[in-house]
Amino acid sequence: MPNNKLKVGVIGCGTVANMGHLPVYHKSPLSEIVAVSDPLESHLKQAQEQYNISKIYTNSDELLDDPNIEAVSICSPHWAHAEQAIRAAENGKHILCEKPIATNLEDVDKMIAAVERNAVIFQTATQKRFDLGFQYIKEKIEENDIGNIFHASVDWYHSMSDFAQDTKRDVVKWRLTNERCGGGDLLDHGPHYFDLFRWWFGDVKTVSAQIRRVYKNRANEDHSTVLLSFKDCETIAVFQRSEAVLGDFTGEEQGKIHGTKGTYIFDVPYEYLFKPLTLKKRYKKSKISKFSEIELKFPKDNWKPPYTREIHSFINQVLERKNDVVEFPIEYIPTIYDGKAALEIVLAAYESYRTQSTIHLPLKHYTPLEWKTINN
Ligand SMILES: NC(=O)c1ccc[n+]([C@@H]2O[C@H](COP(=O)([O-])OP(=O)(O)OC[C@H]3O[C@@H](n4cnc5c(N)ncnc54)[C@H](O)[C@@H]3O)[C@@H](O)[C@H]2O)c1
Repeated sequence: MPNNKLKVGVIGCGTVANMGHLPVYHKSPLSEIVAVSDPLESHLKQAQEQYNISKIYTNSDELLDDPNIEAVSICSPHWAHAEQAIRAAENGKHILCEKPIATNLEDVDKMIAAVERNAVIFQTATQKRFDLGFQYIKEKIEENDIGNIFHASVDWYHSMSDFAQDTKRDVVKWRLTNERCGGGDLLDHGPHYFDLFRWWFGDVKTVSAQIRRVYKNRANEDHSTVLLSFKDCETIAVFQRSEAVLGDFTGEEQGKIHGTKGTYIFDVPYEYLFKPLTLKKRYKKSKISKFSEIELKFPKDNWKPPYTREIHSFINQVLERKNDVVEFPIEYIPTIYDGKAALEIVLAAYESYRTQSTIHLPLKHYTPLEWKTINN
């Protein structure tokens, strides 16, 4: 057993903390959960019992000021991330921060300044990069496997239409009703694929979007289509996301990437179920064949959930275990700058919809959407 276990604090003990952060830190021989914080005592107690944690705090400042803690996972609602990350950085703690890393770019710039000033690691928790199927696509694109990529599309929804009238449930409540969120479904889910698109195709040049609030009792949007172009390639990317459509809550998550020599087709099972995605490739076998389709065999034998690989990479990065156990190239790990870029695309999509125009990045001006005044 290593004696240099990373001493971790987890802030916010809700869904994502229990799905990923807490169980992975708890199981890792390289980390120890020293404390958790949450204003809700029931969530605190449940985490304390399940993961055998000695210290609990109802106020995250106390955890952030605890000198025994070397690194934190920030799993609180979006609006709390910036202040908590800045306090963590000022106290010299390394940070794994859930997406969206903040709700506006001014706060992100303050976070970047604090992280740089204190020379701490900040990893953005966009865990889809750690999915072996998506990593496989990244590596194959670099090998020019499907030629010149001209189009990518993602269609992803969770059906939350049944929850539209049921805003009492904790997990759903703040997401659908709290105006401090700074955005709705697109802010919640867009950062995942905007991060992947940048990773695969490079920096984004333009953003245009159409956005809807189908259920008017929600504080923010629940249905969006976003179109992206890129600085250094001719790919067009389309992201379609919804929490308004009818269907199972587990929804659907599918995508296609078209190149001049082939197409990748992916189908992602309900993300929280921790199953590998299905990845197929369509390509032309010969001059006379139309196309063939094969299922790609990216390494599945030793498959681990993206959350596990993400959190292991964070621990390894902080402990500087670069050579032996880094399961993921360090240059692939999403940084604070990647977190900022993904947020900038979401805000540019809002600005595009507000102004009914195409936005060129960097985003120079942003006025939050006022859904109460929008009639669509
Ligand atoms: N990476 C992913 O796939 C993924 C999945 C789900 C959620 N998230 C992100 O994680 C964050 C939390 O989402 P969730 O689904 O776990 O929400 P949740 O409501 O299930 O849990 C949030 C927890 O934070 C607590 N909390 C509220 N205010 C707090 C504060 N100021 N300080 C500390 N804790 C506070 C709540 O009591 C609750 O226990 C969000 O930013 C969300 O976007 C990411």
